[in-house]
Amino acid sequence: MRLVKVKGYEEMSAFAAGRILEKIKGSQEVTLGLATGGTPVRMYELLVQDYKRNQTSYRHVFTYNLDEYAGIPSDHPNSYYQFMFQHFFNHVNIPKENIHIPQGLTTDLHQEAKRYEKLIDKISGVDLQILGIGENGHIGFNEPGTPFTKETHVIELTESTRQANARYFDHEDEVPTHAITMGIATILKSKEILLLASGDKKAEAIYQMFSKDHDVECPASALKTHPNVLVIADEKAAARL
Ligand code: GLP
Repeated sequence: MRLVKVKGYEEMSAFAAGRILEKIKGSQEVTLGLATGGTPVRMYELLVQDYKRNQTSYRHVFTYNLDEYAGIPSDHPNSYYQFMFQHFFNHVNIPKENIHIPQGLTTDLHQEAKRYEKLIDKISGVDLQILGIGENGHIGFNEPGTPFTKETHVIELTESTRQANARYFDHEDEVPTHAITMGIATILKSKEILLLASGDKKAEAIYQMFSKDHDVECPASALKTHPNVLVIADEKAAARL
């Protein structure tokens, strides 16, 4: 696991967008694992800016999102489906059929998790996975304690994660209690992983990730076993290293 320290949020976002563009421009077909949350917002903005300036084509890009809230429809304003279309997919020429996001509202969520895992298995893991990190060290929605052998699955969110994500909802009790997420084993199938972290709220999680050795209480520490992980942390997020 390598670390690149950058000054702030803007530099972190530019670094990540630059790596994505290299992959897109350098491949005839590319699969990206994508993340939501506040962290990658500027990265998506920069990709959209690049698209407007340079018409970088996304026709050969296939995307697989990390996770989705359970129990809300894809047209719910807080679904990760809406997030992805608003921040990114609506603004570039990616064909809709290339986009994959787990369905959070289905009759059988466990079946949906299996279906989603099969899609990722079929491509033997994504080429480039973008990750954020939760304040408690979660990646995707793999909360502390989740076995690292888990593939895509349904998970109950911890109170601290629900609180951290409450800022996007009108009331805290509207935050879903469950989610469907790629498992750690799914994430580790990726050929390359970029984990982004910005701000002092992430300093403890980044410290734990580097100091813990493959500890289920810090899900991000699972990344240590992967041969191609780059952590891009800004000064505040890397403050405890
Ligand atoms: C959510 C998402 C994660 C994300 C994390 C951090 O729980 N499921 O994928 O990395 O929040 O979010 P933020 O970037 O808003 O701090």
